[in-house]
Amino acid sequence: MLVKENLPVPIRDNHQITEAMTDLYDRYYTSHEYEKRYPKPNQSTLHFLFENGAKEARDILDFGCGNGRYALPLLQQTDARLTAYDISHAAIAELSRFLQDHPHAARIRLFDGEAEKLNAQGDYDMIMLMFGVLSHIGDHSARIATLRQLRGLIRPEGKLVLSVPCIFRRRPFELFTAYWQRVTGKARDTQKEPGNIFFTRNIDKQAHQFFYHLYSVAGLRAELQEAGFTITALAPESLLPEWMITQSDLLGKLDEALLPLLPATLGYGIRAVAVPV
Ligand SMILES: C[S@@+](CC[C@H](N)C(=O)[O-])C[C@H]1O[C@@H](n2cnc3c(N)ncnc32)[C@H](O)[C@@H]1O
Repeated sequence: MLVKENLPVPIRDNHQITEAMTDLYDRYYTSHEYEKRYPKPNQSTLHFLFENGAKEARDILDFGCGNGRYALPLLQQTDARLTAYDISHAAIAELSRFLQDHPHAARIRLFDGEAEKLNAQGDYDMIMLMFGVLSHIGDHSARIATLRQLRGLIRPEGKLVLSVPCIFRRRPFELFTAYWQRVTGKARDTQKEPGNIFFTRNIDKQAHQFFYHLYSVAGLRAELQEAGFTITALAPESLLPEWMITQSDLLGKLDEALLPLLPATLGYGIRAVAVPV
């Protein structure tokens, strides 16, 4: 969604958010900039998935799987059947390339585009929403609609594992700008919800506008509850930014060693396990 001079159109409603996120992630994956920025899974998040049922799961849905940073190691290290879904066609195309000649390719199914496609495709004992997928989905109503869809796809004994960006660690300038727009009456549509931020970043030399909803632990708990889940485990996702710990093995190990000292609410991201109620 671009206009003259390469400046992104300001995005405001849920439909525009979905369009903008699809465009920007298509470009992020096609240019391989995502892979360069986050070349590996966060090892402690991968361990978290195993500690919370990935090994025992028979059917796993990775919702917002991107290029398969988590789906691929799960395919390799478990016997589960995987379903990988992303709104970005380029994400799924890249994952599909990684799967060419993969010994376990028959155990994974790929979907892109509309999330409704998942509704007639079975249910899951683990559903993942890793590294901010939920935050990109739109305002409160859009996020609750997605969580309720996933509530409908999870088995009674299943686990939802997710990670979201933390409001106390991310983007203070944009949070203040959003706050100021609200108090001065300039906020429109999705800009009216506290925690929603917009910012511009260049992807492959082109300006793109990102949308995020930033979370506190209390905010995450309340949303999950509204959609029919209750939290059973919480942890910080990392102390340092994700790009640092996935680009450097040393920083990744150091970060994982320090995580037990950090409360979930002060992580760069917040990881949670939730079960259906
Ligand atoms: C920060 S990336 C995380 C990707 C992957 N889970 C990982 O950990 O590398 C966010 C992902 O959410 C996807 N996404 C954004 N909006 C979405 C939506 N409405 N439904 C599904 N996926 C969406 C993007 O295409 C992108 O792949």
